[in-house]
Amino acid sequence: MTRRVAILLSGGGSNMVALARSMTGDHPARPVLVMANSADAGGLDKARAMGLETDFVDHRPFGGDRAAFEDALHARLMQAAPDIVCLAGFMRVLTEGFVRRWQGRMLNIHPSLLPKYRGLHTHARALAAGESLHGCTVHEVTPELDEGPILGQATVAVLPDDTPDTLAARVLVMEHQLYPAVLRRFAAGDRSLVTLP
Ligand code: GRF
Repeated sequence: MTRRVAILLSGGGSNMVALARSMTGDHPARPVLVMANSADAGGLDKARAMGLETDFVDHRPFGGDRAAFEDALHARLMQAAPDIVCLAGFMRVLTEGFVRRWQGRMLNIHPSLLPKYRGLHTHARALAAGESLHGCTVHEVTPELDEGPILGQATVAVLPDDTPDTLAARVLVMEHQLYPAVLRRFAAGDRSLVTLP
């Protein structure tokens, strides 16, 4: 049975593109919706250009009421009836209530080798700590930020003259390989760890 995948983003959507491109041929899943929390997320244009269904729920009118925003997001997601939700640069912290509704079916990509560097500014923090190895992680989403079971990791060597931007760019290349590789396995019911390269 083909699995239905919704992708949530806030930014440029390069991970969304990598995921959507991967879901062809004998892949066990297909993208059914790309959602953003703002109408001007660049990833929505990219998704439309790929012929994908898109929509957004703007978080701003909800003020600080995260639960009300998430109810609207959830309602729109349910219309697309996804089996799997992929967070791909979705920059809203999700409440436990929302996460519980999708737990076991929701993945996230995080630009660090978790459990190191949860949260923001991961590349700068890895450089400041003098890491020689950095990378990215795909994990199941649980209520604690960046803490769910790890499904895949890709490593990137830190170079002596790296800046946060140069390091981020190399990690992003690996994100685009790792996330599709994990999704393919996950959609087939396989939660074994993917390690790259
Ligand atoms: C990626 O680095 C992702 O890991 C992070 O946000 C970035 C999103 O990039 N959480 P894009 O929108 O997929 O290009």
